[in-house]
Amino acid sequence: KATPRIRQITASLIQHLHDFTRENDITIDEWMAGLELMNEAGRMSDDRRNEGQLVCDVFGLETLVDEITYKLASDAKDEPTATAILGPFYRHEAPQLNMGDCIVSGIESTDRTWMHGTVTDFLSGKPIEGAVLDVWHTAPNGLYEQQDPNQPDMNLRGRFTTGKDGKYNFYCLRPVPYPIPYDGPAGKILQALDRHPYRPAHIHFLIKAPGYKPIVTQIFDRQSKYLEDDAVFAVKDSLIVDFVPYQGDPQAEFELHYNFKMATF
Ligand code: DHB
Ligand code: FE
Repeated sequence: KATPRIRQITASLIQHLHDFTRENDITIDEWMAGLELMNEAGRMSDDRRNEGQLVCDVFGLETLVDEITYKLASDAKDEPTATAILGPFYRHEAPQLNMGDCIVSGIESTDRTWMHGTVTDFLSGKPIEGAVLDVWHTAPNGLYEQQDPNQPDMNLRGRFTTGKDGKYNFYCLRPVPYPIPYDGPAGKILQALDRHPYRPAHIHFLIKAPGYKPIVTQIFDRQSKYLEDDAVFAVKDSLIVDFVPYQGDPQAEFELHYNFKMATF
């Protein structure tokens, strides 16, 4: 349907593509190379590998859209939790777990982490009941479960629903930095720009609660490499966290405390 919005953004896209082509005297060979990259990204894109999204992300496009989407109530004392890109490895229908459960299976590690905190309304500070935290991160080999035939289905993913006190807690791992898949078009683009493919260690969250704006975000380990030069530009200061050595819990070597603050629509 040709809505006014679609007409406007399509015309603008065409104008910018023409300007880009003219300003750079794009040759037939260069144009064909660009086409081939797009076709290859299309051929490679499936459930396990969102190559098209990966290409946009190394251009910083998803992060730009995220910044445009995240508008602050500027007169508020506090701010809602900063957002960050979803990335290509989210999966719907992660297991629904109970507080205190562990999302790790079949992995020996000395980086086991107890993560906990509260989900609150950022204006009132009150806890939010019925908030669903959808969490996912990579294994120590740097692979998400769907990229790795050696991990059980839905490993390192889970959904947790808060009760009246808004609190959540679960066991996960302290993640590691890892390279985004770079054997395809996204990798070619990085190479052409002399850029590395690494992302700092991070844990993803998608948090939903009735009446509140969903939060898509990631938190980053302060000790990780690549905080300053994330291949997909997702790091924000307020999302950098500290994994603190944790004694007396046979299930964890680190503790991680983080509160999520949500805004109403
Ligand atoms: C991207 C994001 C991720 O979180 C990740 O783990 C890999 C790639 C991306 O934005 O392309
Ligand atoms: Fe990720």
